[in-house]
Amino acid sequence: MQETTPLTAQQAQLLSQLVDGLSTEQLAWVRGFLAGINHSVRHAGAQAPAAGTGSAAAPQLTILYGSQTGHAQEVAEHAKARAVAAGFKVDLFAMGDYKASRLKNDKLLLVAVSTQGEGEPPDDARDFYEFLHGEKAPKLEGTRFAVLGLGDSSYEKFCQAGKDFDARLAALGAERLVARVDSDVDYDGPAERWIEETVEALKRVAAPAAAGKAGAADGFSLASLAGAVAPAAAASQYSRKHPFDATVLENLTLSGRGSSKEVHHIELSLEGSGLTYEPGDALGVVVKNDETLVDELIDTLALDPQATTTTQDSTLSLREAFLRAYDITTLSRAFLEKYAALAESTELKALLAAGNETALRDYLYGRDVLDVVRQFPVRKVKAAEFVGTLRTLQPRLYSIASSLAANPEAVHITVGAVRYDSHGRARRGVASTYLADVAREGETVPVYIEANRNFKLPSDSSAPVIMIGPGTGIAPFRAFVEERQALDAPGRNWLFFGDRNFRTDFLYQREWQRYVKDGALTKIDLAFSRDGEDKVYVQHRMREQGKELYAWLQEGAYLYVCGDADQMARDVNTALVDIVAEHGGLAQDAAAEYVKTLQREKRYQRDVY
Ligand SMILES: Cc1cc2nc3c(=O)[nH]c(=O)nc-3n(C[C@H](O)[C@H](O)[C@H](O)COP(=O)(O)OP(=O)(O)OC[C@H]3O[C@@H](n4cnc5c(N)ncnc54)[C@H](O)[C@@H]3O)c2cc1C
Ligand SMILES: Cc1cc2nc3c(=O)[nH]c(=O)nc-3n(C[C@H](O)[C@H](O)[C@H](O)COP(=O)(O)O)c2cc1C
Repeated sequence: MQETTPLTAQQAQLLSQLVDGLSTEQLAWVRGFLAGINHSVRHAGAQAPAAGTGSAAAPQLTILYGSQTGHAQEVAEHAKARAVAAGFKVDLFAMGDYKASRLKNDKLLLVAVSTQGEGEPPDDARDFYEFLHGEKAPKLEGTRFAVLGLGDSSYEKFCQAGKDFDARLAALGAERLVARVDSDVDYDGPAERWIEETVEALKRVAAPAAAGKAGAADGFSLASLAGAVAPAAAASQYSRKHPFDATVLENLTLSGRGSSKEVHHIELSLEGSGLTYEPGDALGVVVKNDETLVDELIDTLALDPQATTTTQDSTLSLREAFLRAYDITTLSRAFLEKYAALAESTELKALLAAGNETALRDYLYGRDVLDVVRQFPVRKVKAAEFVGTLRTLQPRLYSIASSLAANPEAVHITVGAVRYDSHGRARRGVASTYLADVAREGETVPVYIEANRNFKLPSDSSAPVIMIGPGTGIAPFRAFVEERQALDAPGRNWLFFGDRNFRTDFLYQREWQRYVKDGALTKIDLAFSRDGEDKVYVQHRMREQGKELYAWLQEGAYLYVCGDADQMARDVNTALVDIVAEHGGLAQDAAAEYVKTLQREKRYQRDVY
């Protein structure tokens, strides 16, 4: 990693001016950025032209990102800052904004892309993905590239989009600068190393004179530095790594008596945090594991709960580390591979062998780490060895259900408690049941804001809005309507909501009725799947209302979908294409293209999970 390099006096002064507005994380990043500049300057050597002389054109680098919730974007922005510091002229694009016709001329190309759905690229990256994989993609001999995949190893198609981009760029003749990196939920470290190695490789292949641009006086300013820092959290010192302890103001069960679901409405105070958000953003909740489960696991492993354990950030007892630092529930191939080696289990190794994918998928479903440890005991394991099989415990995201304009210094979320029985044990979702059961009024919950630039109300407040949010997918639309009412936005609002039963599962029923009465909600269509003989879902209501829905789209409406990614989002998309085909008199291909254009124009946005 970056060696420590002293700051110049000018940089130290700039840093001190910035300190007040930055979080600890951002400060660390700024230090790294400045160190990168100094490092480049020192390594540029005496033959490098003086900064700002303009004697050598900086080599052109293009960085593309495909990002749903902003992680890949954040990495791409850091990569840009590093490459600029190393003397490159950098163009940074969301894949959705990139003109594919540029591709054959972009000889140095970096790609940071996450994976969504079941191994698919993010919405915004789909067009470019399809172009690259299609017949019109150009030959790319002479192009140098590097790919960073972001993903989650508990998904079967881990970092699939990154793998696809990497393979396709190579197949088109481009040459790798460094090997692809597939980063898991703890992406910060791998991403930082990928950036470092990639920039070093870039410096080797591009003109060494590039480093001449790295002079701190050239292109380096307070404004450019501040602009390079991730913008979302800039106003607050609180972040994912440094969450704010928000006091629970209210924790209500929204589901009625007798419901087959358990949904909570939770209000938290942000007073004194400086945290702000916009409708469409999510609240990150830093969670802890269930104490009973932690004790059972330690007992089964015959470990000392007080054994000293060193995590990424601190030294804790094993019990504390299992409670707060490690994911002790999610089962994944990556965990099983490490555990099989530790337990020397031939049965587990056989399950992991090539060709056994279906059996592995069946085994992973509905089981957790404790099931595996009980079924395949490991003898005399050391705490550190077992900890080495685990990933860090990840915060969970919840779509924000409130508008700051209507609720100053507060944030609301809508949480579906995950509870189910499996393999003879009662299971509880880590975060949702912690929020449902433990986060009662007066308790504090560590939170941060995860901005989502891909799920935003139209900037034109008169544009009509269509919102499709069954189940807890309703949450951001409560924020949307609240915001539009608070700001007197003249645009029309149409909500499609669905759940199981009208009587028990009509989330925020009274609020919607009031909004309809006030005129804040122009239209509402409801689908309750278990009230009648036939199952009725939101996509059925959309089809019934197809003519009017198409008319709204023709009048410039923005369409939003939130909630279940597996079935609902797919069915809604199919319904949308069919509606456009039928009511727009278009062939199915042309209707699909119409919907893609909506997506490209950011008039069709999804926040699905
Ligand atoms: C951008 C975004 C916004 C979100 N917004 C919301 C929101 O507004 N409201 C909300 O409630 N959630 C929301 N979520 C989901 C939320 O982040 C959590 O994933 C969810 O609450 C479950 O987390 P958990 O820790 O309780 O469960 P975990 O401990 O993570 O357990 C969940 C896992 O349990 C397994 N599982 C669940 N049910 C079963 C079953 N019946 N049988 C077998 N296995 C099962 C699945 O593998 C599942 O992934 C959002 C997610 C994202 C990414
Ligand atoms: C609905 C959903 C589906 C996902 N599917 C996958 C997947 O198939 N494979 C994978 O490796 N990661 C998957 N992930 C994890 C994301 O890729 C990971 O959270 C990543 O850091 C997101 O980066 P972004 O914010 O740039 O989009 C999924 C995440 C969500 C919310």
